[in-house]
Amino acid sequence: MRWWSAATRFCLLSVLLLFVISSTIMDYYQLSRDGFMESVQKSLKCRKLRERLVAMTTMKKVDIVPFLQVVRELMDCPWRLNLTHRELHRTELWACCNASDRLIVTRQNTHVNQTLTYEAERWRKKLVDQTLWEMFPKSVPWSKGLLGRCAVVGSGGILQNSSCGEEIDRADYIIRFNLAPVNQSRDVGLKTDLITANPSQIIKQYPDLHKNPGPLAEQMSVYGNARLLLPAFSFAFGTAPCFKVYHALQKALPQQEVVFFHPDYLFELGQFWRRRGQKASRISTGLMLASSALEICEQVHLYGFWPFSVDLSHNPLQHHYFDNVGPNHYMHAMPEEFLLLLQLHSQGALQLHVGHCRA
Ligand SMILES: *[C@@H]1O[C@H](CO)[C@@H](O)[C@H](O)[C@H]1NC(C)=O
Ligand SMILES: *[C@@H]1O[C@H](CO)[C@@H](O)[C@H](O)[C@H]1NC(C)=O
Ligand SMILES: *[C@@H]1O[C@H](CO)[C@@H](O)[C@H](O)[C@H]1NC(C)=O
Ligand SMILES: *[C@@H]1O[C@H](CO)[C@@H](O)[C@H](O)[C@H]1NC(C)=O
Ligand SMILES: *[C@@H]1O[C@H](CO)[C@@H](O)[C@H](O)[C@H]1NC(C)=O
Repeated sequence: MRWWSAATRFCLLSVLLLFVISSTIMDYYQLSRDGFMESVQKSLKCRKLRERLVAMTTMKKVDIVPFLQVVRELMDCPWRLNLTHRELHRTELWACCNASDRLIVTRQNTHVNQTLTYEAERWRKKLVDQTLWEMFPKSVPWSKGLLGRCAVVGSGGILQNSSCGEEIDRADYIIRFNLAPVNQSRDVGLKTDLITANPSQIIKQYPDLHKNPGPLAEQMSVYGNARLLLPAFSFAFGTAPCFKVYHALQKALPQQEVVFFHPDYLFELGQFWRRRGQKASRISTGLMLASSALEICEQVHLYGFWPFSVDLSHNPLQHHYFDNVGPNHYMHAMPEEFLLLLQLHSQGALQLHVGHCRA
């Protein structure tokens, strides 16, 4: 009878094995079905969030606490590039403003004896004489979609302790503003390709540039060979300080190129965003260069753009990542600009980074 008991044992063992295997499969199926349902629910929720933000028209009367909650949930949603939206914005910006042709004044897009019309004071003109014309570079070094991954780094206090430095430095092209320091490199990175300065800042920080270019040269040297981009033709008061910077750096750091925003480019860009709901008297330099990047870069990543005085968990923030000095009055409508950038993020045209960067 031994063959019988062996067969029984074999049968019992098989049944047991089958049971174990099938219950594992069932568990796995259940789990993956739960996971599937969860991810469907999450992606539905994310889609609703994006639609809700894109439908907003203004930040006026927006209650900040629930708004931050929405932004927080949006930032938990995966971001995907949407080529349709990216191309649409790029083509519109190209058609209106053409950063590829005239983000900066060049010998190609101006000629001797023409005048430049100031961006913010349209009744004022500047004659481009031979000497001025020779200060301009030959041509614009960028063209539509030429650059790969671009990082546009604002100065918001949100960058403090963000650990975004490594990610920023991985970009192919890095844009910064107002001579922002790069000594907190863990959070803001080290590399710079293009940096702006504004005339008020130059007048205040370097009152006697003509006699003493040393401090500016020293400050500029931390940016390597980055181009310095100045709004020399936005307001008439800014022209002389910008020219002083040009001459001071030409002597002290001849390899450092100093270039000037084309006033018509900035003017057209302002009109472009005005038609799309930006009502402030002037758009910020941040929005200007984010727009240029949208035209000339394949991928645009924004860091340090955050107009609120608290982070996503309501912790208080400094005004800038490097100091806590705010402007006396706002010329720009920063929350409105932020909403616009958040909408571009929601559409998948560019990616806005708020808070911590994941390793
Ligand atoms: C991009 O956005 C458009 C318009 O909202 C949508 O129809 C399309 O499916 C999106 N494409 C991708 C790849 O998500
Ligand atoms: C932008 O400028 C470039 C260079 O001059 C030119 O080839 C191109 O046609 C311009 N684009 C538009 C839309 O005007
Ligand atoms: C610009 O104008 C000056 C003075 O009228 C004249 O001498 C010069 O030849 C002009 N230059 C060009 C390139 O037209
Ligand atoms: C950032 O980290 C430093 C050092 O860990 C800490 O002292 C500081 O409070 C933090 N700042 C913010 C805004 O979290
Ligand atoms: C970084 O540079 C800024 C301005 O150049 C200076 O005020 C600040 O003390 C520096 N911070 C550190 C951590 O070195």
